[in-house]
Amino acid sequence: MAPTGDTTQEIVRIDGLAHDGRGVARRKGKAVFVAGALPGEDVSIRLLRERNSHDEAVLVSVIGASPERVVPPCPHARDCGGCNLQHLAPQAQLASQQQRLADTLKRIGNLAPKHWMAPVSSAPWHYRSRARLAVTRNRQDGSVELGFRREESTRIEPIEECPVLVPELSALPARMRKALQSLQGPVLPQEIWLAAGDDGIALGFCSRSTLSTQDRSTLRKLGEELQALTGFGILSSPHVRHWETPAPQLHYSPEPGVRLAFAPWDFTQANRAVNEALVQRVIEVLAPTTDDAVLDLFCGIGNFSLPLARRARRVLGIEGSAAQVRAAAENARANGIDNAAFLAADLFRPESLEAMPRKTFSLAVIDPPRAGAALLCEKLHTLGLRRIAYVSCDAATLARDARTLSAKGFRLLSAGVLQMFPHTSHAESLALFAR
Ligand SMILES: C[S@@+](CC[C@H](N)C(=O)[O-])C[C@H]1O[C@@H](n2cnc3c(N)ncnc32)[C@H](O)[C@@H]1O
Repeated sequence: MAPTGDTTQEIVRIDGLAHDGRGVARRKGKAVFVAGALPGEDVSIRLLRERNSHDEAVLVSVIGASPERVVPPCPHARDCGGCNLQHLAPQAQLASQQQRLADTLKRIGNLAPKHWMAPVSSAPWHYRSRARLAVTRNRQDGSVELGFRREESTRIEPIEECPVLVPELSALPARMRKALQSLQGPVLPQEIWLAAGDDGIALGFCSRSTLSTQDRSTLRKLGEELQALTGFGILSSPHVRHWETPAPQLHYSPEPGVRLAFAPWDFTQANRAVNEALVQRVIEVLAPTTDDAVLDLFCGIGNFSLPLARRARRVLGIEGSAAQVRAAAENARANGIDNAAFLAADLFRPESLEAMPRKTFSLAVIDPPRAGAALLCEKLHTLGLRRIAYVSCDAATLARDARTLSAKGFRLLSAGVLQMFPHTSHAESLALFAR
């Protein structure tokens, strides 16, 4: 990577959107990525970095604006790492996600679905039921900064409120600042996790080492004032957190008539309304009957398993986190569902896949993390499945796995996108495969 000292500007025509939401233009036979630029626009840029494969530039000005460009309503949109597409109208965001899914399926999987499902849109604001705030102390004046990390940076964009968070959470940053400022101990929480359920909210304070007794009591008191459950966690690397147990519990419904208890620090789909639409779609495309045995792979706390169990003969959910498997089993019991069983297994390890029950399932839903499910997709044809609904948060790994499934005899019948995270470049997709 070579940063350029060049301050000259030039004009380029943007002809696409990259997977991270940046505009892409061709310049001197190479792609150049321009954050904030939209397809169809002529923009003035200044080169930032030259790499072997592509260049990066900053947007200086838009010369011919796209008809789909809008003024970002949030004052932090440009600097906060959360929403990188607020300058694109929400309907156009959805259309561009579907186009990107089609392009990625073609490019990586050499596949096109027989049929496109209607895209599922979201309310543009106040949709997000969980978030992770970053906290630091300003070295110069000792003040506490609370906000979101800027894109590709360790710096924080301080915020008072966030309009994509659900109303119960959106104004919390401003309401927490004073209490954080009053903390006395040598250790400050580095992250604050926010989560909302249909019955309340939770705050999780994560620090590198244990907070002082007095500071924990200040933060508990803050939780009481905000009518929030509180929890404390220790960070042992940027990605590993050990939460004190037992975790507080919140609840949400994946469909009317089913209520799931969850620990606020565990994975749950962030957009509850779109999650309900997703669960309905999965049921629609798999169309389970009381003859079907269904596998729910990467089942979490039973988001798909329990709605499916209400329609199928039986469901087996498999998930890597033992705590989530216990929660899923408890959720089945609490909802009076007795035809769902759950198993803890690492679905990325060949030994776990070897040990999987064979030829006893007719339908499967698979909802892996971003890395996809490469190994698993090599094996699914051995289980006698008729249909597979693949839920994905990464089009590239979905396309790779779709290619494997297709080579193993599954046809890509339909695909579609769901606007789980409006204003961001993250897309949720659903693909249906049939034997
Ligand atoms: C995208 S979430 C889906 C959860 C659930 N289907 C839902 O809708 O809430 C992915 C899930 O995969 C689990 N997971 C991650 N890595 C795993 C692995 N190697 N083996 C099994 N499960 C894993 C996570 O714990 C998480 O619950």
